[in-house]
This record gives sequence, structure tokens and C-alpha cells, in this order.
Amino acid sequence: MNNNFPENFLWGGAVAANQCEGAYLEDGKGLNLIDVVRHRIKGEIDDKPIEGMYYPSHKAIDFYHRFKGDLALMAEMGFKCFRTSISWGRIFPNGDETEPNEKGLEFYDKLFDEMISLGMQPIVTISHYEMPLYLLDNYGGWRSRKLIDFYTRYCEVIFRRYKGKVKYWITFNEINAIHFNPYGAGGLRIKPDENKMQVIYQASHNTFVASSLAIKLCREIDKEAKIGCMLALSAFYPATCHPDDVFETYELRRRSLYYSDVYMRGYYPNYAKHIWDELSVNIKMEDGDEKVIKKYTCDFLAFSYYKSSTHSYGMPVFGDTGGNTGKPNPYLQSTAWGWQIDPKGLRYVCNELYDRYQKPLFVAENGMGNIDVVEEDGSINDDYRIDYISRHLMALRDAIKDGVDIIGYTYWGPIDIISAGTGEIKKRYGFIHVDMDNDGNGTLKRRKKKSFYWYKKVIESNGENLE
Ligand code: BG6
Repeated sequence: MNNNFPENFLWGGAVAANQCEGAYLEDGKGLNLIDVVRHRIKGEIDDKPIEGMYYPSHKAIDFYHRFKGDLALMAEMGFKCFRTSISWGRIFPNGDETEPNEKGLEFYDKLFDEMISLGMQPIVTISHYEMPLYLLDNYGGWRSRKLIDFYTRYCEVIFRRYKGKVKYWITFNEINAIHFNPYGAGGLRIKPDENKMQVIYQASHNTFVASSLAIKLCREIDKEAKIGCMLALSAFYPATCHPDDVFETYELRRRSLYYSDVYMRGYYPNYAKHIWDELSVNIKMEDGDEKVIKKYTCDFLAFSYYKSSTHSYGMPVFGDTGGNTGKPNPYLQSTAWGWQIDPKGLRYVCNELYDRYQKPLFVAENGMGNIDVVEEDGSINDDYRIDYISRHLMALRDAIKDGVDIIGYTYWGPIDIISAGTGEIKKRYGFIHVDMDNDGNGTLKRRKKKSFYWYKKVIESNGENLE
């Protein structure tokens, strides 16, 4: 078979600071919004940490102290890149200071230096479902325009500091997830009597301006660096071919593409006004906002792809990222967490996005969360994970053959980490097992799974060997 992955394809894996680092108050770090979240799926969010309660982010998998060993394992698999995020609260503990925390900056110096010495390109998300808790409590998160100044100050500091080390930046993780995860993606606590959509769309506007200003800074500071956006863009299908299902699915898909349209094209799409009117949203813009958004668009579009969902007419939910709003797809199987496994959907989405923007794509997340069993001899035979990735990579190869420009693939969770959606660790994605349970008990010992050896071969063969 012909090898269709480009020669310099960025193979790797992706994590996020708040899901792996731990050390939640070490070296001057302030509280992050996730540091007061207990079981995320139950929505248990406190005002401040309560003694005796378990908060998964506090220790996570202790990557902060173990990153050298962990990165060595990634290097053993042959990673060409490693995607992680900077914890904003390590650099600006409250978020509104004028001077950064030197200790926090030093940590990422060490982390990026280590990656580079191991031959891995750092791919860095500036805000991955986090901000200092102080910004949420005192400014209301992204509902406040003041966040634009705090965020761009933070960006300027990290762009200057890591110039030459970081060549790929991502401004926000899954920014469209602000609809189903307003707390994590937007730092928003929405009161029951508020127009939720007004808050979300206004906060989104503030992030658009912030993102464009970050792109401006990045281009001024480091001409070599590339900077992109990142969206949750799993596939979204009509549950039937009934025209009502088809059209409403299309409309709901545009609630996500709204974000990439602004980021990639530099202006609000024609259908935006219709959405705002329908939801009684009135966006407050300042002079110059539209100019900035227009001038500083993204170099590439990164996205996460895990599954596909279906939609039936009349189901009033934000669709493509939040799960099925139609009947389960009878042609697909699901993971233990109900995520429908759909490799061809990845090819579909790659084509959909490339047709629309004609700019390079980056598959920043794709992976399978499952319960893994450690056998008596210590082995972990995760054939289901190998099968999942293998079929998705074949689909990606097909998309490349279709003519789509794809620059990289970072498997989500190459080492077991805390789930963003549920706070569990038993929803494991890793090639590397971490000995820890959902309550944080365990030795944290790292152990290679069968998929570890398999992914190594994939990279070695530049995607030729996918069986
Ligand atoms: C993405 C997020 O939505 O999906 C990650 O960017 C997250 O932070 C990943 O971990 C998988 O979701 P979950 O809920 O299984 O951790």
C-alpha cells in the first residue's frame, strides 16, 4: 500500500495541564477553576476546596514531577510532537497581576526543553478548559471584556519566553464547547434567571477578539510560529433522511462552525444574525473588534474527533459535541461511555472542514476511553483501542488521499489522565497505564499497554503499518 502520510507528518499525543500535572498549589500556582470541581459529571463545583474532599486535579497523575519519565516513554514510541497546555494559573496565579510568576515560567522552560531534546515539537494550548479561579469569581470569566487584557498579557509573556521553542500555538481548546461546558470552556457560572445564550455568545465574542489579538502578538513576536484555533468537531448526522431532520442537523452543525467560520474567515457568517435573533442575543461589540477579527485569522484549524452523533428534528439541544439528540445510529457500535465509534466520520469531517476553509487541519484529539484490565502477569491487552485507532488512521489516510491538507495527529491521552467530562481515571485512553483509581488511590506506577508497542510501529512506518 502507498504511504500517504506526508514525510514530516506530526505524529504524537495530547494532554492538558489540568488533567495531568497535579501540584495544584506548587511553586506559586493559584487555584484554577477546575481545582474546585469534584466529580465533574455530577456537577459538584465548590467555591473553594473543602478539606477532606477529593479533587482529581490536585494530584492528577503528578505529571508535574514525573514529566521526564513520561516524556521518555513518549519518545520511545517515536513521538514527533507532544501537545499539552500551559496552566494559566502557574504564570498568573490570580490572572490580573501585571508581573508573571517566574517559577511557573521555569517549569514550562524545563518541560519544553525536555520535549525538544527528545525530538518532540511542543504543540501548546494556551487555555485548555481553564483559567485562574480568581478571574471567574471576580470578573465573571469570559463574560467580561477585561479578560481580553489579562489573556493577551499572559500570551505576550509566554510568546516572548518560549519564542523559538514553541512553533505551534492553539489559542483555546474546543471553544465551541462553551455551549455544553460553559464553566470549563468559558469560566462562566450562569444564573438561572439569565439568558444563557446571551452570556455564552457575548463571552464567545470576547474570546474571538482575544484570540485575534493573540495572533497579532504571536506574529509580531515570533514570525516562525504558527497559531491556530481548536474546536470539538466530531461528526453530526441527521437521524433519518426526513428533510426536517436533515435541515435542522445542518443548522445545529452551524452552531459549531460559527466558531471556525469566525476564526478562519475573519468575520461572522451570514447565518449569525438569524441565530442571535432567534435566541434574543445582542452582542456588544466595540469599535475595532470586527477589524481585528478580520485581520488576524488562524494559520490552521485543529479539532477533536471522537465519535459521531445523530439528531432528530425538534430535539432542542446543542448537537455535535454533546452526544446523540436522535436515535442511536444502528450502523455503529459504542464505547462503554456510549460514544459511537465512527472512523469514516473522521474522513467526512476532514473533507467538510477543508472544503470550507482550504487551510491546514490538525487532528488534535482522537482516542478511545475504556476500562482496561491489568492481567495477572501485568500485561494490558487493549486490542479494542488498537482497533479504534487503526480504523481512524485509515480514514485519515483516505482523507489525505482525498486531497485534504492534514499536518498532524495527536492521540488523546497517550498516558492515562483524569477525564475532563467525568473526573474519573477509569475512563482510560492511554498507551501507558497509570496505577490509580477514581478516588486517587494507587502507586502512580506507569506500565506499557499493548497499544504502546503498536503505536510505536505506526510512527516508525509513518503510518504505513496500520494493521
Ligand atoms: C475533549 C477535551 O473534549 O475530550 C479533553 O478537550 C477531554 O480535555 C477529551 O479529556 C476526552 O473527554 P473525556 O470526558 O473522556 O475526558
